Amino acid sequence: MRHLVTGGAGVIGFELVRQLLEAGDSVTTVDVGKKGGLGDLEELGRRHSGRLELRRGDFAADKSLLSGKFDACFHFAAIVGVQYVTDHPYETMAVNMRTTLNALDAALESGCRTFFFASSSENYAASVDRNLAPIPTPEDVLLAIDDIALPRWSYAASKIAGESAVFGAAKLGSFTPIVVRFHNVYGPRMGPTHVIPEFLARARAKVDPFPVFGADQTRSFLHVDDAARALRAVLVAALEGKGGLYNIGSDRETQIADLAKLVFDVSGFHPKVDARPAPPGSVRRRVPDTRKLRSLGFSPQRELREGIAECWQRAPRA
Ligand SMILES: NC(=O)c1ccc[n+]([C@@H]2O[C@H](COP(=O)([O-])OP(=O)(O)OC[C@H]3O[C@@H](n4cnc5c(N)ncnc54)[C@H](O)[C@@H]3O)[C@@H](O)[C@H]2O)c1
Repeated sequence: MRHLVTGGAGVIGFELVRQLLEAGDSVTTVDVGKKGGLGDLEELGRRHSGRLELRRGDFAADKSLLSGKFDACFHFAAIVGVQYVTDHPYETMAVNMRTTLNALDAALESGCRTFFFASSSENYAASVDRNLAPIPTPEDVLLAIDDIALPRWSYAASKIAGESAVFGAAKLGSFTPIVVRFHNVYGPRMGPTHVIPEFLARARAKVDPFPVFGADQTRSFLHVDDAARALRAVLVAALEGKGGLYNIGSDRETQIADLAKLVFDVSGFHPKVDARPAPPGSVRRRVPDTRKLRSLGFSPQRELREGIAECWQRAPRA
C-alpha cells in the first residue's frame, strides 16, 4: 500500500512512517520541518530506498504538496504544545484549520480509502473538569471549550472543528473517516515543551529545588511505539470500512508528582520538590477509556519507566 502522512517529521508521524516502511508499504510525507526532524526522515529514506518520498513545505499555503494517489491519508501536521498555542492562538487556528481542509480536499480528489485525523483529548478536557464526562473517558463524550477567549483553547477549538470537517467531507467522498484522539503520546524525539522532556531537561541541569507544576494532576502516557502500533490496528479496521472515533492512549493514570519521582530515579538526581499550581486551564485528570482500541487486539507494550529511561539516554530529533 501507499500512504500519505502529513507531519512525518513529528513525534507520532515519524514513528508511524517508520513502522509502515518496516511493514513493506510505501509512504509520501509532507512536513515543513517546524521543529526539525527532516534529517531523521532522510536517514529513514536511505534505509528504505525508493519507498519514502519526502516533500518539504507548508501545505497550509500550498495544497499541491499533497497531490497523488494513496490508500490511506494520515493527517498529523499541526501546531501543538500548550505554551506555543497560548502565545500564538490565531496561528494555531489558521494552520490547524487550513492544513486540515487542504488535506481533506486532497483526500477527496485522490479518492483515498481512509482518512485519519489526529485529534486530541483536549477536546473533552473542559467536560471532564465540569463533571460532564466520566473518567476513564470514552469516545462518545461531550466536547467542550471552557473559555473561548482564553488562547490555550484555540488548539481544542481547531481540533473540534477538524473532527467535524472530517465527518462532513466523508459524506462527499468514498473514504472511511477515522478520528483518533491521542492522549499524551511521548517518545525520545519529542520537542522540549512537554512535561516529560521538561522534567528531563531540569534533571540534566540539576535544578534544585525542582519546580513541579500541578503535582496532584494526573495524565496517562503512551509511548510513541505503542501509538503507531495502535494506528496500524485502527488502519486494518478502517480498510474494512469501520470508521469512527478512537481514543489512543494508555489507561494507566499517573500523578505528575509520581512522574517526577520516576524522572528522579531514572536520572539518579534527587532534588527537593517545589510544588507549584498548575497553569490556568490545565485539566485535573486525563484517562482515556481504551476498550474500543483494545477490541481491535491492541494493548500497550512499553512501561513508562522504561520509556523515560529511553528518553533520558537518546538524543533529540535531528
Ligand atoms: N503527542 C501527543 O501527545 C498528542 C496529543 C494529542 C494530539 N496530538 C496530535 O497528533 C498530531 C501529531 O502530534 P506530534 O506530537 O507528533 O506533533 P509534532 O509537533 O511533533 O509534529 C507535528 C509536525 O507537523 C509539522 N507541521 C506543522 N505545520 C505544518 C504545515 N503547515 N505544513 C507542513 N508541516 C507542518 C511540523 O513541522 C511537525 O514536524 C498533531 O496533530 C497533534 O495535534 C498529539
